[in-house]
Amino acid sequence: MTLLALETSCDETSAAVVRDGKILSNIVSSQIKLHAEYGGVVPELAAREHLKNISPVTQAALDEAKISPAQLDAVAATQGPGLAIALLVGLKTAQAMAFALSKPFIGINHHEAHLYSPWINVLPASCRQKNGDCLQDGYTLPAADFSKFQPNVSLIVSGGHTLLVLVESDLNHRVLGGTIDDAAGECFDKTGKLMGLAYPAGPVIDKLAEQGNPKAFSFPRPLLHDANDDFSFSGLKTSVRYFLRDHPDLLNDPQKVRDICASVQAAIVEVLVAKTIRAAKRNGVRCVTASGGVTCNRALRNELERACQKNGFTLHLAEKSLCTDNAAMIGILAEQKLLKGNFISEFDAEIKPGWALA
Ligand code: KG4
Ligand code: ZN
Repeated sequence: MTLLALETSCDETSAAVVRDGKILSNIVSSQIKLHAEYGGVVPELAAREHLKNISPVTQAALDEAKISPAQLDAVAATQGPGLAIALLVGLKTAQAMAFALSKPFIGINHHEAHLYSPWINVLPASCRQKNGDCLQDGYTLPAADFSKFQPNVSLIVSGGHTLLVLVESDLNHRVLGGTIDDAAGECFDKTGKLMGLAYPAGPVIDKLAEQGNPKAFSFPRPLLHDANDDFSFSGLKTSVRYFLRDHPDLLNDPQKVRDICASVQAAIVEVLVAKTIRAAKRNGVRCVTASGGVTCNRALRNELERACQKNGFTLHLAEKSLCTDNAAMIGILAEQKLLKGNFISEFDAEIKPGWALA
């Protein structure tokens, strides 16, 4: 089974070729620099950039995989959720290709695809060169493996979303909770902006926090003790705003900036980790997974590792290169759906910008 998958839900144009559970190519063209001067993703600019990039990125994915369009068994794309005019580019391109090739089109929920990214291994370069079974770009999926780790609780945490999902079995999951206002990544980005840091501020805060004291300042841990699995980060952002209003001089001291970064990061991470672990315990699972851009955060990775070890859970984190948006995860899920006949091929299906995971 060979599939082409496209992802254009936000600010990454990505195409991947997947065959029999292995990723033959995964090309990601990021627009981060384009949007940086605006301090956030500008949908109109994102869509134009996707339009410019979708053909070369798709061609590059096919070339790297050494696959011609005629060899494809299906074409998949993210159908939602995401920015409407950005989604349109990938979806319509995939539908047109599938129609022209007389092959099925598979529309994918972006969040459901994130559930698969922790199961994609990036193999070391040495293995890629020596072992014929390890494909050139080094990604592979241990296809038989992930069902052993079900049920599990999965944290999806990015600039647009913060979700806790109970994965009961393949293609069978239930959303336990999500953010009622800002996403965790948005909280990193917006508090960073208040401190005058570059967009996206998440990675900058991560770096500065390394040499900061996480206990220097105390910021709220919203909904930490609530019994539900929901998150809220806008109050934390507001408290940082008032804190900086009342202590503007702190921003002139580089060590204090590092301390503020470490303290804000500690608040976000504590809530994410505590609520993930609590959900895992309540649902009686033995495994926890995490993906999405914020999963690149070193403190989050370390704290999840520590908490899972303490509680006897197996932890599967997406590799850093696959935490952010990519078409590989879209292709892996599409292949599962193709194998199980779990999709309806519609060449005229519309985008679903607000498609919530059930
Ligand atoms: O998944 P992603 O690429 O895109 C979506 O938002 O869908 O995630 C981007 C988000 C941004 O908010 C960015 O600041 C955050 O992930 N991020 C990080 C780190 N790397 C990326 N946040 C904290 N620490 C990081 N190292
Ligand atoms: Zn995403």
